[in-house]
Amino acid sequence: MIEVIKTKHIGFCFGVHRAVSTVMREAERRGEPIYTLGPLLHNPQMVEKLKAKGIEPVEDVFRLDKGVVAFRSHGIRRDEEEYIRAKGLAFIDTTCPFVKRVRKRARYLRKNGYMVVIAGDRRHPEVKSVLSYLDNDGIVFDSLCSFEAKKIGVVSQTTLDQETLSDVVRVLAARAEELRVYNTICESTHTRRREAVELAGVSEAMLIVGGRNSSNTTKLFESVRRVQPCAYHIETADEIRPEWFARLHRIGIAGGASTPDEIIDRVERRVKNL
Ligand code: F3S
Repeated sequence: MIEVIKTKHIGFCFGVHRAVSTVMREAERRGEPIYTLGPLLHNPQMVEKLKAKGIEPVEDVFRLDKGVVAFRSHGIRRDEEEYIRAKGLAFIDTTCPFVKRVRKRARYLRKNGYMVVIAGDRRHPEVKSVLSYLDNDGIVFDSLCSFEAKKIGVVSQTTLDQETLSDVVRVLAARAEELRVYNTICESTHTRRREAVELAGVSEAMLIVGGRNSSNTTKLFESVRRVQPCAYHIETADEIRPEWFARLHRIGIAGGASTPDEIIDRVERRVKNL
């Protein structure tokens, strides 16, 4: 008999839940297609489900000249927002308030003379969004960055892990006369990671459920694998192989912030039925 334990905080985070429910409600109310700039959330299965309800991802907003546009929870770029407003397109802003807080802190730092450093992944839409609202007058920190400044101000991508932020701060502390840090990692990211790592410590194997294109799921998986090498990152229950759990009795399940409850439930049922 396999015992299956889930982390307490699992399923959509506050920001994703808010974005998905708002856009679904609006699609039904308006009865016309809604376009999202890129996928509304980083979960391919959910994106397919939304398409069936008339919620379509588009890559290039500048091709749209009619319709309703939804801003994703991790934000859009400033030039995209300006285009939408200038064209007079209807829009639904579901940018997560915690992402807006990163943009606000970054702008505050720049206004006060700090060189703004964003700790995060430069390819992630949230980081692109924050940078664009700084008029690209900021630096996304990575190992190749070599600069010094009198005043450096740091913000972090909301889904960054605490260890990476601490590393960035340690490096920058040696390069600035004054260093100001806003830890803008969102509480949900932090709590999920802590719970998943704790659960990994008392489980014989871990399943991390979520999109492979989801930054927070990938980071969650990396954190868990450090304490429990027997860990698997899956998107759906169909990927589970019975041989992973042969002779094991306690399996932990954690999920990314954009993983729907129904996918988690299917994973749980599948493991219990092995
Ligand atoms: Fe918002 Fe945090 Fe979710 S920033 S979208 S509540 S992971």
